[in-house]
Amino acid sequence: MNAKIRTHSPVWAHGTGKAKEVRERIVAFCAGRDVTSLAPCDEALIHQDISTNEAALLALAKAGVLSKKESRSLARALIDLRGQFESGKFSLDPELEDVHINVEQALRSTVGDAAGRLHSGRSRNDQVACDLRLWHRDRILSHIEETLELLTLWLEQAEVEKGTVLPGFTHHQRAFVTTWGHNLVAYVQAWLRDVERGWGVFERTNRSPIGAAAGFGTSWPLDREWMADLLGFDSVLENSADAVSSRIEVETDIASWMSIWMNHCSLVAQDLVLFSMEEFKWVRLAVEVTTGSSIMPQKRNPDFAEVIKGKASLVHGSLASLLSMAKGQPSGYHRDSQYSKPLGQDLWREVEGVPEVYRLVFGSLKLDRKRMKEATKGGFLEAAEWADSIARESGLPFRDVYTCIGQAVDHCRKTGALTRSAVNDALKKNGFEHRVSAATAKKLASPESLIAGRSTLGSPNPKRVQEQIESFRATVVGWKKKVDRTTKRMERKDRERQREIENLL
Ligand code: ARG
Repeated sequence: MNAKIRTHSPVWAHGTGKAKEVRERIVAFCAGRDVTSLAPCDEALIHQDISTNEAALLALAKAGVLSKKESRSLARALIDLRGQFESGKFSLDPELEDVHINVEQALRSTVGDAAGRLHSGRSRNDQVACDLRLWHRDRILSHIEETLELLTLWLEQAEVEKGTVLPGFTHHQRAFVTTWGHNLVAYVQAWLRDVERGWGVFERTNRSPIGAAAGFGTSWPLDREWMADLLGFDSVLENSADAVSSRIEVETDIASWMSIWMNHCSLVAQDLVLFSMEEFKWVRLAVEVTTGSSIMPQKRNPDFAEVIKGKASLVHGSLASLLSMAKGQPSGYHRDSQYSKPLGQDLWREVEGVPEVYRLVFGSLKLDRKRMKEATKGGFLEAAEWADSIARESGLPFRDVYTCIGQAVDHCRKTGALTRSAVNDALKKNGFEHRVSAATAKKLASPESLIAGRSTLGSPNPKRVQEQIESFRATVVGWKKKVDRTTKRMERKDRERQREIENLL
């Protein structure tokens, strides 16, 4: 065997050092399910289930349902169980049905009857609803955080590229001259709505169902508000029936948020696929973010972008499944809901890497500014602006000038560029006295001055793009602070709860 031919990387692999690291990340992102398997759903909830048990222990101890001795032994057992879990020594026994019974039995095996008393006023219905909300809320926060990092990069790049002209499209046809900077800021504006939507999802998710029991309250004196606070929830889902049955809505809310966001991701993916094609060559993807072919050694494919579009379809499908799963249920807890768990977890597994992959892709993207500019020529992208300019100078109605320009375009089809004489001929033929001056024609021939001429709020005019960058930058910074504050508050609540548990020892 030829030792120089590597056997520990894909056959098409290239790059060393940092490039190799990036390539490996991209390969893993693109391969996904082809080579990785999925863990059981409840395995993801062990950490959260221990937390809900801690809150229950504290509430039952405070209410005097558990004696000091029982509270002490349960506190010790929960601390040990968390330790075992964190060191990989606690795994789920499938015969014990779910994470809740697994945790209960693990406690029973160390503390005996006290574990049974810890189940006073509790049901797996509110436990699972609570575990899920805890699990999803962390993901929502870190996803928003990751997204904001990407937006920061796009805003930096937009500032550099606000004068980089290229065609803007309508109907897949070149339409107007625009800039790469304006395109990037368009992404940012859309993704900031995603952040805003995500925050709404977070606020609705971070409400506590604990203490709702099976859905109909309990005669045990559980302080629901205190338990909610111990777990870092913002408020209590007061009505106990809805507290339990709304669990599926958490996942549906996320899937609906993600469905729109994934469409935004797909738009970016499609821009990159098109603009990197040989036929455009406006952008060049770094070799390490592309993937190769097992037969065509020359290939450098934008698989990550196609994979992102595939993931978008999967997310849309999850939303449809979640909606249909909820629609057939009457009030109360029904086990149909259990099937929302894999969908909700899958969603995250699929989308979590996207902002990071885009950071790698955009961070290494090369623009061919010359080709972008070249592409603004020859397609009459200036035609509408000829009409605008003449209408303004002459006082003629836009529609009349538009007709003249249309005729001039027809006349110039062969050369692909409007000429002053063709426009003036058309004006004359239609009985208008106004003529285009050489100075106006010169201005209209430059893509940069076409852009500079557009002054409306939010247009690609570099000054307007700069305004957008500044306002979005402030919004991004505001969101970063908010997310950071909230993450820290959750972490503090976790520490405080664990300290309360230690105080029982
Ligand atoms: N594994 C179950 C679920 O996810 C836990 C709740 C079971 N509750 C019950 N009443 N059987 O829904």
